[in-house]
Amino acid sequence: AVSMPRAADLLAWYDRHRRALPWRAGVGERPDPYRVWASEIMLQQTTVTAVKPYYERFMARFPTVAALAAAPSEDVMQAWAGLGYYSRARNLHACAKAVMELNGGRFPDNEEGLRALPGIGAYTAGAVAAIAFGRPAAAVDGNVERVMTRLFAIADELPGARPLIRDKVLTLLPHDRPGDFAQALMDLGATICTPRNPACGLCPWREPCQAREEGTQESFPRKAPK
Ligand code: ADE
Repeated sequence: AVSMPRAADLLAWYDRHRRALPWRAGVGERPDPYRVWASEIMLQQTTVTAVKPYYERFMARFPTVAALAAAPSEDVMQAWAGLGYYSRARNLHACAKAVMELNGGRFPDNEEGLRALPGIGAYTAGAVAAIAFGRPAAAVDGNVERVMTRLFAIADELPGARPLIRDKVLTLLPHDRPGDFAQALMDLGATICTPRNPACGLCPWREPCQAREEGTQESFPRKAPK
């Protein structure tokens, strides 16, 4: 039997290995909701490495949600060109306009309000609520699905397992650092708990991981056949 995973162990790892990324506020700094939101939209179907240079250019060109909302759509599409999945760019622009009109340029500070905006689904609402506003929200992406199904040996197939995964994240979530916890889970999935050959020896949760105990890491997550 394995012990219960502790958020504190993951956060201690994150404090040592935290990746400096342009959308992340420095330690002790307040994150800008606009920058967090834009980064999460870009990172949905694109890797961190590919997003970085686009993100920097995009933010230089549209430094605020007001600037983005006021820009002609051709300019937005041009700044997006290369990132692909262009419906994301159209939704991004629509969302910026909605935030200006509905709320005078202030993003809603909770999941429900965020979810009502164009292009913001469960993942993005959770990520922005946790990272930008310190809300106790879960942001479940592919990396987090892999980490949690392994940690608890969740054999249910995706996507059906998602509600259970979300519950597990919420159970572990430390209320004093929800944003760091969300990003620590993403970093753990991206750098340690990888799809193949996970680096379990370096994992802060190696002790409590059920899949590791069974030696079945690579059989998670299970997916419904297409
Ligand atoms: N992937 C999606 N969101 C991310 C974030 N905030 N940091 C690192 N990787 C991510």
